[in-house]
Formats: sequence, structure tokens, C-alpha cells
Amino acid sequence: MGEPHPVMSSAGTTMTLYEAIATRRDVRNEFRGDVIEEEVLLRLLRAAHAAPSVGHTRPWDFVVVRAPATLTRFAAHVAGCREDFARSLPPDRAETFGPIVIDGIEQSGTGIVVTYDPSRGGSHVLGRRTIDETGRLSVALAIENLWLAATAEGIGVGWVSFYHKAFLRELLSIPDDIEPIAWLCVGPVTQFRGVPDLEHFGWRAGRPLEAAVHRETYRTPSEAASGEQ
Ligand SMILES: Cc1cc2nc3c(=O)[nH]c(=O)nc-3n(C[C@H](O)[C@H](O)[C@H](O)COP(=O)(O)O)c2cc1C
Repeated sequence: MGEPHPVMSSAGTTMTLYEAIATRRDVRNEFRGDVIEEEVLLRLLRAAHAAPSVGHTRPWDFVVVRAPATLTRFAAHVAGCREDFARSLPPDRAETFGPIVIDGIEQSGTGIVVTYDPSRGGSHVLGRRTIDETGRLSVALAIENLWLAATAEGIGVGWVSFYHKAFLRELLSIPDDIEPIAWLCVGPVTQFRGVPDLEHFGWRAGRPLEAAVHRETYRTPSEAASGEQ
């Protein structure tokens, strides 16, 4: 089991990119309770906005949410979605899921809702004609940029996807043609844990790199011949 990494102070300039990649964690339990400083928040948003995007469309927007009443309403909605998921599980999985926290919406003090606008770039988006999801993939890259920059700053990020898009649209006045991609809980943390919570609580072990790397073809000739996936 890996050791937790200490939190770097503010600008985090001593953390290399590889250190930030290795330290980054999805944070739920370790928010300190104080709110991220505005200038740090702006640095994170600048990092996100520097991400690559299909056709250079920058199809994302960021809604920064701090109002306690909004955080509370969203947290209650997410708690309901968590319960729905728990009820869908067989008993052994439900027991494993029990202690797993799936958000830090109120504890982090700041939500950054990242949205996708497919109309950015007009009707001739260079690179999106044959693969429509490249727009959403661009938004995910902005999120990863923000996540790594946050790690270098000692700021935790937790991605919440236990929600219904329609609820979030209504809550934040997001138009129907704009798609919410993520609610990110963002705030100063006490530490970054050494292993993902889902590993720690026995939900799922990490898949080793060797299993993910293929050489030359996805399937070997013998796997292809036997119809293996
Ligand atoms: C698209 C996406 C959605 C996620 N949704 C949630 C979520 O709703 N709640 C949660 O606690 N974690 C969520 N996570 C975090 C993952 O559980 C986490 O990234 C994974 O367990 C690996 O842990 P690590 O990020 O600390 O390495 C999400 C991550 C991604 C990339």
C-alpha cells in the first residue's frame, strides 16, 4: 500500500509533473474545510483552459459554485443517487460499498461544474466530423489539466457523477443544449492518500499497466483466431 503524500504549500513549484501525476487522487474525505483562495482557483482554471481541444474549440465552461444552499441541495440529490445505486447492488457488493464516500460537495466548499457546448466552433469543427465524442473528450482533458494543477497546489479534486443531468441543469440554470460533464469538489486538503479509496475499501483493485499495453495489434493472432476479446 502506498504512503500518503504530504500536501505542498501554495504555488507548489517544487512538484514535478510526474510527481503530480503520481500524487493525484480523487479526494472525498480529506478536505480541510477552508475554501480555495481566488488566485489559486484562477490558476487552476487557466490550466484547464490551456488543454488541447478538437478543432481548437475550447468547448468547455466552468461554473464556480459556492452558495451553501446550492451545495446542500446538490449534496442531497447526490445522496439520493448514491442510495439508488446501493439498492441496486447484491448484498456482498452493498456491504463493500457501505463505507465508501462518493463526494465532498459541502466539505470542499467549492464546486466547479464543467460543461460541454457542442456548438462551439460552428458547423465545421476540424476533427469532429467522424468522431463526435472528441468534443466531450476535450472537456475531459481540461478536467485532467485542472486536476493535476490542483495537486501541485495542494488542492484536492473529487469528481462527482452520481447525479441526473436534468437536476443539475435546473439547479444551475444550464440551458438544454449545454451538457454538464462533471461536478468537481475542489478545496485544500490535509493529505493525498497513497491509494485510491476504491482500492482501500476493496471495491476494485487497480488494473496493472502490463494488462493495458498491447503491441502492434489489440489481439494477438492466436487470440483473434480463437475469438478471444
Ligand atoms: C468520469 C469519472 C467519474 C467519477 N465519478 C465519481 C463519483 O461520482 N464519485 C466518486 O467518489 N468518485 C468518482 N470518480 C473517481 C474515481 O472513482 C477515481 O478516479 C478512481 O477510483 C481512481 O482513484 P484516483 O482518482 O484516486 O486514482 C470518478 C472519476 C471519473 C474519471
